[in-house]
Amino acid sequence: MPSDGEADTEKDSRPPCVPNLPEEVWLADFRRRLRAWYSRHARDLPWRRDRNPYGVWISEIMLQQTQVATVKPYFERFLAAFPRVEDLAEADEQEVLRLWEGLGYYRRARQLHRAAAEIVSRHGGEFPRDVEAARRLPGIGRYTAGAILSIAFDARQPILEANTTRLFARLLAYRGFPGSSEGSRRLWSMAEAVLPRRGVGTFNQALMELGSEVCTARAPRCDTCPVATLCRARAEGREADIPLRKPRPLFEVRHEVAVVVWRRDKVLLLRCPEGQRWAGLWDFPRFQVDSETPASLAMEIAAKVAERTGVTVRLGDHLKTIKHGVTRFRITLDCYEAHHLSGPNGKTDLPETRWLRPDELTDYPLSTTGRKLSEMIRWHGSNLDVGS
Ligand code: ADE
Repeated sequence: MPSDGEADTEKDSRPPCVPNLPEEVWLADFRRRLRAWYSRHARDLPWRRDRNPYGVWISEIMLQQTQVATVKPYFERFLAAFPRVEDLAEADEQEVLRLWEGLGYYRRARQLHRAAAEIVSRHGGEFPRDVEAARRLPGIGRYTAGAILSIAFDARQPILEANTTRLFARLLAYRGFPGSSEGSRRLWSMAEAVLPRRGVGTFNQALMELGSEVCTARAPRCDTCPVATLCRARAEGREADIPLRKPRPLFEVRHEVAVVVWRRDKVLLLRCPEGQRWAGLWDFPRFQVDSETPASLAMEIAAKVAERTGVTVRLGDHLKTIKHGVTRFRITLDCYEAHHLSGPNGKTDLPETRWLRPDELTDYPLSTTGRKLSEMIRWHGSNLDVGS
């Protein structure tokens, strides 16, 4: 092992300053076993059918923070709607968000849309092959650039995401926290050291596949793992404790209200402002409430609708209660209807609002709970009396 600061020999391609990386004999054995395993176990996933950089890029953005099974139908619909980067660049942001609806982390969709425009205007419609140029695109960090360039072009780029972090931490029996600067440096060095000379795209996908299908977070399937005998955590019987988990933040309970404001046969929608949870999406007036009694709650709701939209209302029936989670919040969302009395008052610092017929809501990107509510009023109209 090279010690800190010691120059590497020509044959030894390990990065300097990172002790405890496996020897070349170990690495060669690992690559051989992983390739053999992947040739028999690779899943048939829609983005693996070809290596078109555009499709690889879309899939990698969708797969950030989202499971493969969830991504599959979104990927197929997205590519059917925007088969080429030019189609995405020319699309309306609203259309892009509508197709993303339900996947969450909507900033990804807006960045993807902006990146498509940059690829067309600055790179002639071709995804850049240079890693620094790729990383300058919105929404593309070190992992995503490495994944796209290796999968699409077989570039010799390392990747480190949740699955490979767990896999490498166990192989090395790394006991620190993978998200620390030391952990990140070590695991990225492992991701580099393990790369083969050729076939990097397939190899990187094999690493992710092994991490997600065998070296699982809970109850890893070591009995079927092709590299179990190379795994230090397994040898030490510590696979259940590695990687060290970040303590989960305690969740916070919140009470929110969403209001369907009717003006004749139309309802009020507003566009969520920049910097907020659902920036770019549309929503019913929605806010956190604190009142404990029904009378004070009714006053609070009317006041908050007026403050946020410039519209005064008379509160109507309670429609539905939806329980859901957003990041660390456990939210009880009470949905009401209300009748328009006046406004909007011409205040200028309010979000954009529109009055829409319930059937028009299908064209507007909404949050998952917003869609549930919109479907309910589309089918039942106003004055509904539907229990929670
Ligand atoms: N997670 C992130 N990228 C992936 C890929 N290309 N295949 C499977 N899972 C992934």
